[in-house]
Formats: sequence, structure tokens, C-alpha cells
Amino acid sequence: MSNTLHIFGNWKQNLKRAPARECAQAIARQSQDLRKAHPGLRVGLAPTFVALPELSSLGDESPNPVQRLAQNVAAQETGAFTGEIGAQMLLDCGCAWTLIGHSERRQHFHESDEILARKLSTCAEAGLGVVFCVGEALEQRQAGTHEDFVIAQLASALDALEKRGNAAQTQLIIAYEPIWAIGTGQTATPEQASLMHRKIREYLKSRPEAGGDRSILYGGSVKASNAAELLAAGEIDGFLVGGASLKPETFLPIIQAGAEHLSQ
Ligand code: PGA
Repeated sequence: MSNTLHIFGNWKQNLKRAPARECAQAIARQSQDLRKAHPGLRVGLAPTFVALPELSSLGDESPNPVQRLAQNVAAQETGAFTGEIGAQMLLDCGCAWTLIGHSERRQHFHESDEILARKLSTCAEAGLGVVFCVGEALEQRQAGTHEDFVIAQLASALDALEKRGNAAQTQLIIAYEPIWAIGTGQTATPEQASLMHRKIREYLKSRPEAGGDRSILYGGSVKASNAAELLAAGEIDGFLVGGASLKPETFLPIIQAGAEHLSQ
């Protein structure tokens, strides 16, 4: 079992600057002992772009600070692309990670596999770490095509990474988030999650030129009541948490479950 576990919160389009700062500070303060006791327990928060600087004091903690993640990044490095924020700009803000390919970006903003592969490539070039999200819709799950669908999403990202030639140096985490489980209260069962994670891991291992094995997080209605059983199913290297990450009292028990899992 890996001795690193990531518990990342995705705040989406929620929390203005002051509540974001207060929530992040409470999470940082109340998870401090757990992070100190477990160097492999990586806690991170993805606020909106405008709230990112409000969380800058989190980076002062050591040796295992709460990380800051962006929720999105431009496919282009820099230039005349109104409304976009580039990988170098995020690094300049002290933000070392970004999400790419969240299903809400794919669905509502029509981000294709091709665009997402370009984003990954740009981040690899800039040295920005990526949490790359994949996941099937309910129809694919019901039709039994979910595994092929998820592997195809992953393949296009890994192809781009492989083409660049520095895949092994690129910090990349995969997040498996079945769309039917996001924000619905309907979590994948531990068996469903674990099976898909195994499939993803096998595929990653079959692509050593694209960096090989990586941490694989699960996302989709993770909460205090299901975190421990999901981790116990095996293959799950942490969580990407939406709704339950918006309040310290619902996010901290998930961090706690991660710490307990690392202690086993
Ligand atoms: P949820 O969201 O935990 O609210 O289901 C997960 C995500 O979108 O990353």
C-alpha cells in the first residue's frame, strides 16, 4: 500500500474571499497535528482563482502544509486569450497544482479530450502539477462501456505527455470521478471504485513512457460516513471532495479517515 494519501477539496464556484480564508485557516489549524504525524497525508484545497491569494498563508506552515490547487488552467502558455489564466501565473501565485478535466469543465464548458491534453502538456512544460479528472456518465455505466470510456479519456492525456518526452518528471495524479456520483449523494460502492481504480492502475503501468503508475483519487459524494470504507476497499490513494470540503466540520472527518487509514 502507498504511504501517501491525498485529501483534496474542490470548492467550485463557492466561497467569497473572507469565508474562503476562514474555512481554509480552520481546516489548516485543525488538521495540523494529523499532517505532522503523517508526512504522507497531503491535504489540499482548490478555491476560486480570486480566492487563491487569500490562502497564501497556508504555505508558511511546515513541513507538510495544506496545498493550494487551481480548479482550471489555460491550454495556452500566454498571450491574447481573454479570460484565461496560465500555468506560469499560477506558479507565480505560489500555487503548484491544478485540476484539469473536471466533468463540469467537460460538460458545461465543452472541454474536449484534445483541449485537456493540450492543457496537460502546457502544465508539464511549466512544471505545474496536475490532478487529471476522468469519469463516465450513468449511461456508459449502465451500458457496461465505462471502463473503455475512462481508459480512452486517460489515453489521450497520456499520449500528449508521452509526446513531450518528460513524463516521468511531470507531477500527475489521476482522479476517478463517475459523473453520476458527483454532487448527487450517490457514491460509487467501494467495489465499483476499487475495480475502476485497478483498471486505471493497470493501464498506467502499461504506459511506462508516459510515467507509469500514479496516485489515483476517487471523487463523487465522498463524505465522513463513506470515506473509511472506500479507503478500505484498496487501490484508492485519496479523495477529491466537493460539497463536503466546504465546511471544516464535514471535511476534517475525511482527513481523519485518511490519517487512520495511513496508520493501519
Ligand atoms: P462532490 O463533488 O463531492 O460534491 O460529489 C466531487 C467533485 O466534483 O470533485
